[in-house]
Amino acid sequence: IPVDPFDLVVFGGTGDLARRKILPGLYRRYVAGQIPEGSRIIGSARGDMDDAGYRDFASEAISEFLDGTKRDPQSVARFLDHLYYVPTDARGENGWPDLAKRVRADVVQAFYFSVAPSLFGDLAERLHRHGIAGPEARIVVEKPFGRDLETAKELNATLAEHFDESQIYRIDHYLGKETVQNLMAVRFANILFEPLWNARHVDHVQITVAETVGVGGRGAYYDTSGAMRDMVQNHLMQLLCLIAMEPPYRFDPDAVRDEKLKVIRALLPAAPEDIVRGQYRGRTGKGSPKQASYSEDAENPSSTTESFIAMKVHIANWRWKGTPFYLRTGKRLRGRASEIAIVFKEVPHSIFGDEEGWRENVLSIRLQPDEGMTLSVMIKEPGPGGMRLTEVPLDMSFAEALGEDGADIPDAYERLIMDVIRGNQTLFMRGDEVEAAWAWTDPLIAAWEARGDKPKGYDAGSSGPEDALMLLHRDERRWREIR
Ligand code: BG6
Repeated sequence: IPVDPFDLVVFGGTGDLARRKILPGLYRRYVAGQIPEGSRIIGSARGDMDDAGYRDFASEAISEFLDGTKRDPQSVARFLDHLYYVPTDARGENGWPDLAKRVRADVVQAFYFSVAPSLFGDLAERLHRHGIAGPEARIVVEKPFGRDLETAKELNATLAEHFDESQIYRIDHYLGKETVQNLMAVRFANILFEPLWNARHVDHVQITVAETVGVGGRGAYYDTSGAMRDMVQNHLMQLLCLIAMEPPYRFDPDAVRDEKLKVIRALLPAAPEDIVRGQYRGRTGKGSPKQASYSEDAENPSSTTESFIAMKVHIANWRWKGTPFYLRTGKRLRGRASEIAIVFKEVPHSIFGDEEGWRENVLSIRLQPDEGMTLSVMIKEPGPGGMRLTEVPLDMSFAEALGEDGADIPDAYERLIMDVIRGNQTLFMRGDEVEAAWAWTDPLIAAWEARGDKPKGYDAGSSGPEDALMLLHRDERRWREIR
């Protein structure tokens, strides 16, 4: 979908996110022909730099974070012509008049706040006082959106002083992932799944976001955050909402977000015995490299922050009553694998008797790596051996299905930034959604803090603490394997 020429200002323009995601992502969209000539990308931060310096910075970021097959020197050079830099001081007055001269009033305006949330208010206020942001300007903000309900409400109130909700784009980059959007297409563009998509036919749902990385380098943030705030409150909740929500009446931002909000509001508080928190222990590698323990990676070595969490969650509504949703996420696990698995119930009566190899149907939705979906079905084992059943996958790899283009699936940030420019808020969190998510997580966190609960240790490179396995064993179920 074509976009109009725009001015995009990236505050925190020399920061980590700009380097890793925003600038390489914008380059990729440029190559795809989505950045119209006449558009400007204006980096801004406190440090002094000129346009040429910023172009060098962006060029290095592109070389570092895009592999050689995804860039070429001529198009990089043409892309860099669209880049500018204006130093501004978020808390002072320096630079703002210069920025006012650079940002045009007659094109789409977007301001990416890739800075600490404590600066959101200062930036928003100055953008107005200096007459930079027009009535249709859009702002993009990143997580963490607060650290509890109170701070999220404060942030929402601060932004609301300067911008209308329709101008605010709260990024949850999980919503920009190809498979996550495909989840909506699969659910609502096919007749096959929807009739089965309820407690009558779904035994349980598993959502796993497993990472191999530790918290190295981010200890100071992570010590005060942990997996619940860092991953569950946002990414896992968003995935849960997309699976559990009712069909929106239209694929329209508020229609979709209304349905997601209803799911969050219908979540029952998780019982203490249904939550398992873990923290990784190091491994001195024989044959494999040494992996540090959480206490070595942390800022505060005695931190009781969880680097892993598993929980059983219930949704109190007609569709899902009685179907548990098991959520699990952690760092330093044995594989990087994110998957949603819809595990269907058994057939009501097996005409084949007690088949040993019998398995339930599972729809597995892989977010990464190897994006795609697999539906496992039972068939007759080929050959003359009589009626023996075996499980085969109906496999759909998105990269394969879409041919060459598919192999080049855009990164979540690329897609989301272009949605901002197009003015499409569907894949962004609304203020009330974020607040409702905190309202659900806050009491759970407060309860384990009040109990003085300590996370269980688990070995780096494992599947998490033993107790997490028990969470499903207790219910006579088992986790899908993390590969
Ligand atoms: C971020 C978290 O939001 O998501 C990180 O702060 C986490 O801790 C990251 O590593 C995971 O994102 P992805 O896209 O690599 O799965």
